[in-house]
Amino acid sequence: MSQINAPRGTRDILPTDFGLWHAAQTEGQQVAEQMGFRQIRTPLYEEIALFERSIGEGTDVMDKELFLVRGKHGEDEHLALRPEGTAGIVRAYIEHGMHTWPQPVRLYSLVNCFRYERPQRGRYREHWQLDMEYLGDKGPFADAWIILTTWLFLKRCGLENLSLKLNSLGTAEERGRYIENLKSELEPLRERLSEDSQRRLSSNPLRILDSKDEGDRALLSHLPVLADFFSEESQAHFAAVRQYLDEWQIPYVLDAHLVRGLDYYAHTTFEVISTQRSGAQNSLGGGGRYDGLLTQLGGPDNGGVGVGIGLDRVVEEMAEQGKTGTAPLVPVVFLAAADEQGRGMVRRLLVELAMAGLPVDAALGKDSLSAQLKVAGRSGARYAAIVGQGEAERGEVQLKNLETGEQNTVPAVSLLEQLRHS
Ligand code: HAM
Repeated sequence: MSQINAPRGTRDILPTDFGLWHAAQTEGQQVAEQMGFRQIRTPLYEEIALFERSIGEGTDVMDKELFLVRGKHGEDEHLALRPEGTAGIVRAYIEHGMHTWPQPVRLYSLVNCFRYERPQRGRYREHWQLDMEYLGDKGPFADAWIILTTWLFLKRCGLENLSLKLNSLGTAEERGRYIENLKSELEPLRERLSEDSQRRLSSNPLRILDSKDEGDRALLSHLPVLADFFSEESQAHFAAVRQYLDEWQIPYVLDAHLVRGLDYYAHTTFEVISTQRSGAQNSLGGGGRYDGLLTQLGGPDNGGVGVGIGLDRVVEEMAEQGKTGTAPLVPVVFLAAADEQGRGMVRRLLVELAMAGLPVDAALGKDSLSAQLKVAGRSGARYAAIVGQGEAERGEVQLKNLETGEQNTVPAVSLLEQLRHS
């Protein structure tokens, strides 16, 4: 029979890869908890309408990349796999009345996300994010808090060569006026725009700012920028965010073209890139403020700001920068039996040590003692505890240090204590 492999664009994360994944996940959870975020888990799939109302039609994620979910018999329940974490978390915040809790409510989640993209290194159809959302606060301190937590996490993973790109998109109204202006400036130049940008001029003009095309960039350089349309309030919000970052000495680069691929942003947007990674897959994480999103989803007019950090890319970056990650837990002791009576004692010791929380291993079959000791050597255990009829009768074990070869007789009752202190 032919072999079946993992679907295109997905990956198996093997035990040999898990050291770095474990380190990144543990750091993520620790940093998030340390900074006041509490864990939440939302479903892998949601109503398509949730994503339409949040991510926005006209974005690549909605128009090209959504994975639809159907029941086996083809019932169309209007469901899709989550392409990102924010929409589901904000839905849950509203649905469970978390806006009535003391604010702010800070939530985090480790989410796998699905986007039907053209796979390449750093871009997968299933990827993982550490998602953090700071809800119920419209002030600039919350934006800075999210950025600080993102920065802390990436530094805790030991990453160097990071660059933080920062922008503000103002309010929806300010952006609306800017977009009208952009359209009227670009419409007469339509023929000179790249094909993609011509399409976006009708569907999502703001994304033209994101264009990597040299010609598009040259045309844009002569036009007013979004910040020219900001009210004093919007300017002050952004200035305050920058001031916090300056105070905390978190370096950033202002990038007026950072619009990001999802529609819900207002005011601050940011992205952390690795300057070592080339091309479009260099963004390790990104996010921003999305004050309008809660009302769009039927909730109160509470502010929100958040970030999604791409763990696949963080782990790849950690590997490239020579990080080793968490070593797998090896047994402290390997129990080996010389005969039938010894095997009985191994079974008793095994459960005693395991219940006491000690990493322990044993071979419970009928292998010869020398075969068992070979397995013990490969297991990474520091000690082998060897028992046969004589030891079983006297209530003793032969404790062999597998690194030095030194061997001592130890009373079985004090084995746990001795191993704990060794
Ligand atoms: P995003 O920029 O679409 O934002 O994704 C966040 C991060 O996820 C990216 O910076 C990247 O590291 C990673 N990522 C995205 N797509 C892929 C992919 N196909 N393969 C591997 N990694 C990928 C969001 O998703 C927003 N929900 C972030 C946010 C939270 N904004 C506010 N709160």
